[in-house]
Amino acid sequence: MQVKVAKSAGFCFGVQRAVDTVYEQVEKGIRPIYTYGPIIHNEVVVQDLEEKGVRVLDSKEELEALTEGTVIIRSHGVGREIYDLIQKKGLICVDATCPFVKKIHRTVEKESAAGRQIIIIGNDKHPEVEGIKGWCHTPAIVVESSEQAEALELAENSSVCIVSQTTFNYKKFQDLVEILDKKRYDRVVVNTICNATEERQTEARQIADEADAMIVIGGSHSSNTQKLFEICRKECENTYYIQTVDDLNLGVLRSTGLVGITAGASTPKKIIEEVQKRCQN
Ligand code: F3S
Repeated sequence: MQVKVAKSAGFCFGVQRAVDTVYEQVEKGIRPIYTYGPIIHNEVVVQDLEEKGVRVLDSKEELEALTEGTVIIRSHGVGREIYDLIQKKGLICVDATCPFVKKIHRTVEKESAAGRQIIIIGNDKHPEVEGIKGWCHTPAIVVESSEQAEALELAENSSVCIVSQTTFNYKKFQDLVEILDKKRYDRVVVNTICNATEERQTEARQIADEADAMIVIGGSHSSNTQKLFEICRKECENTYYIQTVDDLNLGVLRSTGLVGITAGASTPKKIIEEVQKRCQN
């Protein structure tokens, strides 16, 4: 059987970079090490790091209680006050914020300083949006739905700057910007959507289209893996959703020509390679 693994399977560039950063710090051996929030939503990775002495800080209060150590900022980024707090406490800051998210921080900081009202298209509860808000000089407005966009009431000709959460759906972003356009604001729109998710989906669709069987790897609660599974299922009826190599049923794949493999955004490379090897052997 022939096996084809999607290049975009698993971690995106920013998450891979953040995870690598934590392991680099572990290698350096200077303890204690903390990550501000879990570095990714994958229990296997978080647990492995815990065994290596990396602790997860779940709140600002926990950060405040520290007296020494290194604090790693994950790819989602954080607001300015967290950096200030790390510095004030005399802790070492290792910043693994994704450069694409960093760019949004710089944009909102600059535009809000210039007097523009920042409008963030995204989910108000998402840590990335929390972090972006934390770089605005004046309170930002978060818009996620068309109802919220319609209901927005700012004076005509108000100066606004619209940015987006990196993982927001592009089509929905366009729709919301269109609604806001009708309000005649003096606006700057910066499309800050990252195409890592879209690329992963496009490639999965292409591979599933030519494959005889398709394997999608990811956590059972991962919504982006679920989405990948649905996309692949549409192109290839023999699509299987597995969490680890242990779930792989080679019996059903045996007489297959081409097997395609993709994985959700929080699936480590190691798990993808194990599945690939098992199929090849
Ligand atoms: Fe990943 Fe950075 Fe894009 S964390 S999804 S590469 S914005």
